[in-house]
Amino acid sequence: MSFSDLPISIDPPFTVLIPTFNEQENIPELLRRLVEALPVDGRSPAPQLLFVDDSTDRTPDLLREAAAAAGCPLSITVLHRDVPEGGLGGAVVAGMRQAVGEWVVVMDADLQHPPALLPELVEAGRRQQADLVVASRYAVGGSRDGLAGGYRTAVSGASTLLTKGLFARELRGVSDPMSGFFAIRRSAVNPSELRPLGYKILLELAVRSRIRKVAEVPYTFGERYAGTSKSTVREGMRFLRHLLTLRLSTPAGRALAFGLIGLSGVLPNLGLLHLLVRAGMHYLPAEVVANQGALLWNLTLLESTLFRDRRHRHWASRIGRFWLLGNADLLLRIPLLALLVSGLGMQVIAATALTLIASFAVRFLVAERMIYVPRRAAPSSVVAGIGAQPVPVPAASVE
Ligand code: GDD
Ligand code: MN
Repeated sequence: MSFSDLPISIDPPFTVLIPTFNEQENIPELLRRLVEALPVDGRSPAPQLLFVDDSTDRTPDLLREAAAAAGCPLSITVLHRDVPEGGLGGAVVAGMRQAVGEWVVVMDADLQHPPALLPELVEAGRRQQADLVVASRYAVGGSRDGLAGGYRTAVSGASTLLTKGLFARELRGVSDPMSGFFAIRRSAVNPSELRPLGYKILLELAVRSRIRKVAEVPYTFGERYAGTSKSTVREGMRFLRHLLTLRLSTPAGRALAFGLIGLSGVLPNLGLLHLLVRAGMHYLPAEVVANQGALLWNLTLLESTLFRDRRHRHWASRIGRFWLLGNADLLLRIPLLALLVSGLGMQVIAATALTLIASFAVRFLVAERMIYVPRRAAPSSVVAGIGAQPVPVPAASVE
């Protein structure tokens, strides 16, 4: 299908969203290649080029001049931000709010992303009825020749693996989650739900948008045409923070983090107990005190990470409730500890560790057997058999 076959509509069929930060040397060549890539025949509206610019150089002037020039075949909008809130990610979200048409294609201004691929990204999305089309360096036929040097290649490869590992479900079907070149169906995105942190806007979109199907188009990541890269080591640290924030934004991720923090409390608990008993304290009150140390440890970790943004209640109320919750299991553990040590002659630290395991087991069993009882299997369910097929799962569904 070519663009001339598209039904005539008032809206441009898609928006090309290009974040720019001091790219003046790239603008003339970029516009030349965009005009070449986006044939405009006058019958259907031209795609909108939307530049979200945070530059301090002549980039916005060059863009405005081009837009005003007689004979400019493309519709160019420049959104210059005096305050570059959120950097690259913030620029893309600002652009999403202004975008028109069915699709938004995001690409860099330095020609590392070939403009010639633009129509193909949108067409692949339409043809495959996808919500997200990623231009991928890692899909068969793609390459990342333009990544400057072994260091950047290694960093990029490692972050891709880490990201895919952390977001295996959300990134099913996305081989290049670091890509800054992609097309997304506008109806799948709600810009006010996005909280980008730095460069990796695709990751943000894949996790927080309603993407049901992903398609990929391979491409060769080129060399920067002119100017220098704006990514820095600071950007790398921001990326790690972004990964953590995003992971903790889902219930499963929060539960896992809560569990790990709770588990880490075993160390201060046993350590403190050891010190107190060595200092001559009786082991039972010592464990009650050690438990307070572990609670303090857990509370500090939880309030500085997982619940950092949820400290709305008065601090005394938070500490009080947490304290009650965290000491409830002493009702079980202290008698058990007395039995193990005084009754059975076990060593104090080992016995305490055992009570912690027992407390965990009891809580798990109560939850599993008495609170979250599994459904009974339906009597007619087919267990296995010729022709029994697993229900196919869509290649890339993100609920
Ligand atoms: N508006 C705005 N504000 N644009 C920015 C900012 C900013 O703070 N920082 C960078 N940009 C623009 C640049 O002008 C360029 O058009 C694009 O964002 C990418 O910046 P580069 O400096 O070229 O980044 P890179 O080449 O290191 O990384 C790019 O390619 C990677 C691989 O595809 C980015 O697109 C990454 O997101 C991408 O992962
Ligand atoms: Mn670049």
